[in-house]
Amino acid sequence: MAKRKKTLNVAMIGRGFMCRCHSNGWTQVARFFDPPVMPVMHTLCDKFSEGLDDEAAKWGWQNTSTDWKKVIHNPEIDLIDIAVPNYLHAPMAIEALKAGKHVACEKPLAHTLSDARKMLAAAKKAKGKTFVWYSYRGVPAVATAYEMVKAGKIGKIRHVRGLFLQSWADESVPLAWRFDKKLAGSGSLGDLNAHIIDMTRFITGEEIVEITGAIGETFIKERKKMVGLVAGGIAEGLKKGKGKGRVTVDDASLFLARFSRGAVASFEAARQATGNLSRSGFEIDGTKGALRYYFERMAELDYFDATGDWQTRGWTTINCSHGGSHPYADAWWPDGHQIGYEHTFTNAAYSTLRLVAGKKPVVPVPDFADAYETQRVLEAVGIAASKKRAVKMSSVR
Ligand SMILES: NC(=O)c1ccc[n+]([C@@H]2O[C@H](COP(=O)([O-])OP(=O)(O)OC[C@H]3O[C@@H](n4cnc5c(N)ncnc54)[C@H](O)[C@@H]3O)[C@@H](O)[C@H]2O)c1
Repeated sequence: MAKRKKTLNVAMIGRGFMCRCHSNGWTQVARFFDPPVMPVMHTLCDKFSEGLDDEAAKWGWQNTSTDWKKVIHNPEIDLIDIAVPNYLHAPMAIEALKAGKHVACEKPLAHTLSDARKMLAAAKKAKGKTFVWYSYRGVPAVATAYEMVKAGKIGKIRHVRGLFLQSWADESVPLAWRFDKKLAGSGSLGDLNAHIIDMTRFITGEEIVEITGAIGETFIKERKKMVGLVAGGIAEGLKKGKGKGRVTVDDASLFLARFSRGAVASFEAARQATGNLSRSGFEIDGTKGALRYYFERMAELDYFDATGDWQTRGWTTINCSHGGSHPYADAWWPDGHQIGYEHTFTNAAYSTLRLVAGKKPVVPVPDFADAYETQRVLEAVGIAASKKRAVKMSSVR
């Protein structure tokens, strides 16, 4: 009989969009990988009880609760998975860390830098480990870019261009928490730019040292108030209520920046970039080569080798599905049998379980200290946009 592995009881708080992604990750991870600890889907928690038992049964959660504090203090739980609106990350994560749990928290780390700082302080004192779901690090092409840069394949980095463009937020979408600064912290900045800030910090291994200018724009200033539950997507299923409320976050966020070893960078995030359903990606140009990637073709990483002879020099499209060569690919299918969005969470769950067991992740997964650096950039971009001036990162602590 196979030796029984140590188990890890997981409780997830929040049953919206990210709940489906994480639940799928926790369900699938031991089917495709061989994690050193086995996750057990112990409890699903949400503040709304309507349909909660059915949702839990669908994914294999053994228990449900509407009281997050009780869940956190349940001695049977080992890891708290936080997938709720951003303003709730800090109170839940801090309570969980004080209770000795591991915490896997959704991004951005918090809705404000001061909450993020408190989370970081709690993490430093805690016995439990921390993880943040910057899930695009789980895309094999993104992880391959990280490895290639580390191996010196593109030389010294001169240019970084990041973008994350969506188009779901037209006038028909009601005033969900994502449009309220008190609940979300910011709009496309913390929602979308946060991902490409994390992605480019991860790939380049460099930090942003200055925001030289930024724009934050809100095109739709008022939206219908909403009622009831969200349905598990970004905007579908949201129900309009009576009256209108003010939108207090940005629909679009653009900024220019400098990286620590001299590269210059541009970032653009948008919720109303018509024609772009979810176009995230980067282009990174170095002295010896270049890399580019877009989520719509998520298996592919384009590489330009500038060291070869001019006769054959050009872009190569790498299909990042070869086990042993591309991070995470060995767990899935034969070459060229591509994986999708949901697999990135399974990949991240695997690295997280390795870290819990004291083993090396496949590629680095951000902890609270790492995600705090991205949060500092979000803060600096907010200041640069509102004050219309450059902001040195050293002034944002
Ligand atoms: N990694 C990614 O790519 C990605 C993508 C989307 C969202 N996110 C992040 O995930 C988090 C959740 O976003 P979402 O899209 O799943 O939101 P959502 O609105 O779909 O779901 C949030 C859930 O939290 C529940 N909730 C609210 N208050 C609660 C409370 N006090 N106790 C228990 N449950 C409560 C809501 O009822 C809802 O079911 C956010 O931080 C967001 O930024 C990350």
